[in-house]
Amino acid sequence: MKPERTPTTDHALHPDATRTTSRAEMGPAGTRRPRVAVIFGGVSSEHGVSCLTAAGVLAAIDRDRYEVVGVGITRTGRWVVLDSDVMTRLQVVGSSLPELSEDAVDALLVPAAGGGELAVRHQSGLSKLGPVDVAFSLLHGPFGEDGTIQGLFEMMGVRYVGAGVLASAVGMDKHYMKLVLSASGLPVGPFVAIPATEWRRDPTACLESVAALNYPLYVKPARGGSSLGITKVDDVSGLEPAIACAQQYDPKVIIEEGFVDARELECGVLDDPGGGCPMASQVAEIRVHSESGFYDFDAKYLPEEQVDLDVPADVRLDIAEQVQRLAVRTFEAIGCEGLARVDVFLTPEERVVVNEINTMPGFTEHSMFPRMWAASGVSYPELVDRLIRLGLERPVGLR
Ligand SMILES: Nc1ncnc2c1ncn2[C@@H]1O[C@H](COP(=O)(O)OP(=O)(O)O)[C@@H](O)[C@H]1O
Ligand SMILES: [Mg+2]
Repeated sequence: MKPERTPTTDHALHPDATRTTSRAEMGPAGTRRPRVAVIFGGVSSEHGVSCLTAAGVLAAIDRDRYEVVGVGITRTGRWVVLDSDVMTRLQVVGSSLPELSEDAVDALLVPAAGGGELAVRHQSGLSKLGPVDVAFSLLHGPFGEDGTIQGLFEMMGVRYVGAGVLASAVGMDKHYMKLVLSASGLPVGPFVAIPATEWRRDPTACLESVAALNYPLYVKPARGGSSLGITKVDDVSGLEPAIACAQQYDPKVIIEEGFVDARELECGVLDDPGGGCPMASQVAEIRVHSESGFYDFDAKYLPEEQVDLDVPADVRLDIAEQVQRLAVRTFEAIGCEGLARVDVFLTPEERVVVNEINTMPGFTEHSMFPRMWAASGVSYPELVDRLIRLGLERPVGLR
């Protein structure tokens, strides 16, 4: 049995079931502060990365303006309400990323008039914590960034930050993302997708379909992230082991032709609170020196000097503008909302090709997305505030 513990966050969690507004919740103007449920962790392999993102966002939210409730999703999928001391310990220790303990009070999102409400489950029953005015999911990867939790919010009429169900699902699945982008006339590289059913039915035919691609290849879980399960394959002998590796993360695999000597550029996209066109940030460049030869997990998260991040990128203005235009068109092509980071390759022939869109990009203060916006004049706290405001203002239901 889980130990019974009353949450002691600074987030004005009320173990009683009533929703009378306490003085502690009153904003400067005497109105109740909107309650933001920050949701992080999750069952995907990017659990630890999400915890790092949460540590940054939780520290940056303006508590005078918003009441914050931290909701963790453990690796086994339990929702838990977290103590504030747990949240301050969400950091890299040595080479280990943080992980949420199962030892916490169960949290639930329950339907309520006008949206959802958070509750905790004690032995004696449910204690309501009050309405969720906006959910800010910082989950990366499947069951978080892929439309599933967004569907839960939609069903409950809970406002939330970021991409909706379809855009999240398309953005997560590198196969469908490329289909949608190429159907929209946007440049993507050659690829072959191997869904689990096709692999089970006829692996030989699957391997034959890859013969159309030129080596090196990148073999990836179709719905992965943080480079987990990705292998660069230089010749056919490495193909099957790489497919087996990717399948450990996702039964569906995508195999892409590698861009040789291409530069990796990224661009942040944000919705305009005024309802205008989405805005593009300064463009950044990632220069990798890792042993694997690409931007792998260690280069992304472990404090080694395997990577140089140039913000802004040292590229000609016309190239930067091309990347920005392509980033916004990519955002719009998948019907994205709120935020996204669009990653592209700049080939030696100066072609700009989309690698991927991330609808919930790494979001610590030191991550590329916030850094690109900082270089564009939007500080980390302003960025967090803008996203929450966009979520609060968005209508529920079909948009
Ligand atoms: N087609 C490709 N050509 C060259 N490098 C690639 C290609 N695909 C991926 N990479 C390298 O692998 C990294 C991770 O791939 P990516 O598709 O971005 O996966 P993830 O979603 O895990 O970030 C990229 O940042 C890049 O360094
Ligand atoms: Mg990537």
